[in-house]
Formats: sequence, C-alpha cells, structure tokens
Amino acid sequence: MPYPMPYPVDETAVARAVAALARGEAIGLPTETVYGLAADATRADAVRRIFALKGRPADHPLIVHLAAADALDAWAADVPPAARALADSFWPGPLTLILKRAAGVLDLVTGGQETVGLRVPSHPVAQAVLGAFGGALAAPSANRYGHVSPTTAAHVRAEFGDAVPVVLDGGECEVGIESTIVDVSRGTPRILRPGRISADEVAAVLHAPLASGPATGAIPRVSGSLASHYAPRTPATLLAPGALTAALAEARARGERVGVIGCGALPSGVDGLALADDPRGYAHDLYAALRTLDAGAIDRIVIVAPPSTAAWLAINDRLTRATTARTGEDAP
Ligand code: TXA
Ligand code: MG
Repeated sequence: MPYPMPYPVDETAVARAVAALARGEAIGLPTETVYGLAADATRADAVRRIFALKGRPADHPLIVHLAAADALDAWAADVPPAARALADSFWPGPLTLILKRAAGVLDLVTGGQETVGLRVPSHPVAQAVLGAFGGALAAPSANRYGHVSPTTAAHVRAEFGDAVPVVLDGGECEVGIESTIVDVSRGTPRILRPGRISADEVAAVLHAPLASGPATGAIPRVSGSLASHYAPRTPATLLAPGALTAALAEARARGERVGVIGCGALPSGVDGLALADDPRGYAHDLYAALRTLDAGAIDRIVIVAPPSTAAWLAINDRLTRATTARTGEDAP
C-alpha cells in the first residue's frame, strides 16, 4: 500500500536516528499507521529501554519491523503459504503477521511466547531508517502504556519529552490507527486486531474464510486487546447519535464541561470536533482529536458512535476500548 504523497526524507535526521539506534537507544519513528518507539530488535538492552520508557509489562510482545519481506525467514520459522501470500499482497503496509518465531529471537521481544509479530511498514521515513540501519526494529506504538497512540511527532514528544533522544518527523500518519494483526502461526488464520486492512481483504487473498469467535488453546497476549486500551485520560463515553441531546442536557445539569467528537458535522451549538463521515478520514484524525480534547479543560469526552457496519469495525473497536473504564489489572 503506497504512501500517497512522497514524504520528504531528511537524510541528516535519518543518520542521527541510526546513530542513536546503534547506541542502543529507542527513537520515535513514523509509520503509516501510528508512530513507533523503535529500537534494535536483536539487543536486549535496547528492547528493555522500550519497556522502561513505555511503562509496559515485560511479558507483552512487541512487533518487529523489517525493511522487506525477504527478512521473513530470519525471524519466523515454518512460514506457511498463507503468510507469504499476505506479505506479498500487503507489505509494505499496515499488516502485522503473527508467526512461529525463529530460533534466536529474543524472549523480551516475544514476551516469552513461541510466536513473533512481524511487519514491513510503508512510510518512507520508516523505510529509510530500516534501510540505513540494516537490521530489524522492535517498535510498539510510541505512547505510554494504555494511552492513546501518537499520530504526529509532537504527540511522541508530548508522551516522552527528552527521554527519547531522536523523534523523526514524518508528518501525520496516513492510516491513523494501528495495523491489522493476523495470526498465521496455527491453523486457520485469524484477525487478532482489526485495522485498515479488513478481514474481507485478508480472506480474499487467502481464498478462504478466516477463523472467527474466541481463540481456543493458548491465547496470545495482545496488550491492545485489553478492554481499556487506547484510552484518553479524560473519562469518555460512546453514545448513539439520538442520545446526544439528552446526554448533553444531563451533563450540563451536573455542571460538567463536555467535548463532543462527532462523525460528520456536529449539531449546531455543540462544542467539540467533527471527524469525517468516512472511515478512512475518521481513523486519520481520531487519536489527534482524543488528544486535543484530553488537553482541554473538559470533564468528559462524548463520542457520537459512527455506523456499526463492517467498514467501521476497526474504529468501533478502538472507540469501545477508549470508552471502557480502567479497572483492576487493565489499569496502565
Ligand atoms: O501499527 C502498528 O502495529 C504499530 C506501529 C508502530 O507499527 N505498532 C503497534 O505496536 O501498534 P503495539 O506494541 O502498540 O501493539 C502491537 C500489538 C500488541 O497488542 C502486542 O501484544 C501484539 O501486537 N503482538 C505482538 N507480538 C505478538 C505475538 N507474538 N502474539 C500475539 N500478539 C502480538
Ligand atoms: Mg500500542
């Protein structure tokens, strides 16, 4: 999936980033989905740095970013034809494949599991860094654990300040939500996290239906599958469009200041941000909108639910998680 406009690659900045990676540092790296916090996937000290910066539990696996699909067999074992077909169709692009790990892949990267998540990003800056570095980069989204993923370099700076020595600027992420994750490590392929690339698109490439329903056996740990992931700090509520007027009246009666995220235009007199009424445009701006409202002086974010059709599946997944209260072990 090509990036629509060639984003200018600043070779000096790329060289600085590669030097930091060679020192075992973690850097802010733009991808077409969201910004990553990237470090050398073969160095335990570098990968530990990612966990320390994010405040993420050490048993949560990281995605390994490769320059090209020809590195697949260095990182994965027993790669099935389905995985090769998906890599051929969607890489470089917003798809992560879960595969049996090759011998030698660090436990720190896989969270001690027998599988590894692999992806070839298409963003030109990510491609330039991977090419110049000449190795694989472990990179989770560049946010503190449980918080909203960043879609601009400024978001990454807001998360980590000077603790991250280099944050490359690759503009606004084109996709805006995290990659689709497909488990091709055992039996019938299954979507673990919905994204821009839909289940139908994946099934069309495989000429076969995907597994659906809850996975049986050892369920891989996907931190993005925790109920309260991707959450803003301000309490957020998801409402059907018809419920907005009454909810705003009730909030006003309680003295709450409310910021609304609309799908398409906001009703007149309502404060907030209107996102596009198409899923691509909406996904592009969703996380930035959550951050903007989170930074404002408001007590509650109210999100007007977009349509519940298949095209909106990945967005509704993120909205549900962003509006689920943090409790118990899901708390970041
Ligand atoms: O779009 C993306 O995928 C972004 C960009 C930076 O590439 N990365 C991203 O990383 O979203 P992260 O770590 O925030 O989310 C990756 C998800 C996590 O939920 C993790 O648990 C899951 O991928 N994951 C990684 N390796 C896995 C494995 N071996 N088995 C199951 N899930 C895995
Ligand atoms: Mg994440």
